[in-house]
Amino acid sequence: MAARATTRGVLSEEQAEKREEIIALLTRAYWLEIETVMSYVANSINPDGVRAQEIRESLEADISEELGHARQFAERIKELHGIVPGSLEFRAEQSGLQPPESQTYLVHVIEGVIAAETGAIEHYNQLIEATDPGDWATQDLVIGILRDEERHLRLFERFLREFEAAT
Ligand SMILES: [Fe+2]
Ligand SMILES: [Fe+2]
Repeated sequence: MAARATTRGVLSEEQAEKREEIIALLTRAYWLEIETVMSYVANSINPDGVRAQEIRESLEADISEELGHARQFAERIKELHGIVPGSLEFRAEQSGLQPPESQTYLVHVIEGVIAAETGAIEHYNQLIEATDPGDWATQDLVIGILRDEERHLRLFERFLREFEAAT
């Protein structure tokens, strides 16, 4: 019996256009995660001062989680017949996570993390909506990652409140 293409879901021939749209959104998600890894490496090392310790440790723990997200997005791109892009296609966007002038200026770092997580949450909501209907596997993947980012956002919102209360 000859193999035949699936007729339902995002891998079907009729869904080629939808697949391209989702691959483009997944590619942006991949780059967001890669840039977050770079930003969190720098910001888990740069900050100085007694109060920096908790921020540094928290970002350090997030690095492997964000790298895991990047790998999951890359896997999904490949599963949808896409190609994971090369590094020359990378364009940085996280202006809020550049090192502050003073390495004890922690509110700058906290606000930068909040901006990065908020940007990811917005993009992942858009991605989840684009998978409806037809690509439930991508939707399931992105919902799990969205939950991680919402947890990161809430943690840094609490840090910000604490820092604002202390100054
Ligand atoms: Fe992430
Ligand atoms: Fe995150």
